Amino acid sequence: MDSFTGKLAVVTGGGSGMGRELVRQLAAQGCSVAACDLNSDAVAVTAATAWAAAPPGVRVTGHTCDVSDEAQVQRFRDELLEEHASDHVDLVLSNAGIFGGGSFVKDSREEWERTFAINWWGVYYCARTFLPLLIASGDGVLVNTSSVAGFWATAGSGAPITAYCTSEFAIKGFSEALIEDLRSNAPQVRVVVVMPGVVNTDIAENSRRALGLPEWEQLSDAELLEQIPEIGRAVLIGMGLLTEDFSADDLRQAIPRLKSEFQGKGFLPAQAATIILDGVRSGAWRILVGEDAKMLDEQVRANPEAPFNHDGYAEMFGPLIAQAQAEASGTPQP
Ligand SMILES: NC(=O)c1ccc[n+]([C@@H]2O[C@H](COP(=O)([O-])OP(=O)(O)OC[C@H]3O[C@@H](n4cnc5c(N)ncnc54)[C@H](O)[C@@H]3O)[C@@H](O)[C@H]2O)c1
Repeated sequence: MDSFTGKLAVVTGGGSGMGRELVRQLAAQGCSVAACDLNSDAVAVTAATAWAAAPPGVRVTGHTCDVSDEAQVQRFRDELLEEHASDHVDLVLSNAGIFGGGSFVKDSREEWERTFAINWWGVYYCARTFLPLLIASGDGVLVNTSSVAGFWATAGSGAPITAYCTSEFAIKGFSEALIEDLRSNAPQVRVVVVMPGVVNTDIAENSRRALGLPEWEQLSDAELLEQIPEIGRAVLIGMGLLTEDFSADDLRQAIPRLKSEFQGKGFLPAQAATIILDGVRSGAWRILVGEDAKMLDEQVRANPEAPFNHDGYAEMFGPLIAQAQAEASGTPQP
């Protein structure tokens, strides 16, 4: 597939971040899109704005769907086939996902399983539901979004991300295993796995909403201190948003300031979407999004023991923290 013009794409998690940008860019390139999200209002805005800016002949529809519920995914499929008057789809971008269930020890089982269900079962149900329609396309592409957390199972010191990493490893493993399966049994479809590094989206807030958790401002001091790991505090201190002897209240006030400092900075979802779509068009099966993803991928492969010891964290995060600080201060590193 070297052009998206005249194709029909499915995008999950199209209400925000990379999903919203994928919808916009696909539509702008002449591709009709059916986007879904848990958040009905957000995906309706995506669909309306992407459609308004698209060339004639393109149709963009927004649908409400929780991808962790197979019956809802099937209903989404039926709706989109009817609305787009189609009997096949050409592209499926399984992008919906959340952070959560960081600690297997301390976090609730409910949060852990909800995170795993959205990230892993969402990808699985979409693959199950849409594979026959990708086969019917004759030139189908299944694009599953994993993460750097799909090859490095931590976010550093004091920051376990167990449910997220487990689901992202599952997505990566499933996608890689599908390569040979599709080649042998459904050669008209190929699979792509996307592994983004840090992208500046609203995933933290959207994840809390998907998990039914309170907003940051509503957390107690103890909860807040527990939820911002050492690595996050180091970035805030390095950026001058927090002093070394900070209180919980300083931390509470630093979060919105961090958001506004980073508004429109760092690696943006539109840049990520362009890399993903260029990668899909180029025929790649593995798309690393961002220099941090490339750097982490190299380091984990080159030195598989280091990623889980504290010196290894310093080695791997040092350049990332320096880069974040430089970007926030407006002097990006080479
Ligand atoms: N932002 C990052 O730094 C980053 C890094 C690596 C991987 N990722 C992955 O990229 C993907 C997109 O993330 P993003 O940063 O654009 O996030 P985002 O929060 O901006 O967008 C994700 C969208 O998915 C939706 N969603 C959540 N649960 C859903 C469900 N059950 N059913 C349908 N929709 C649901 C959310 O409402 C949201 O609109 C995710 O899979 C995420 O794990 C993100």
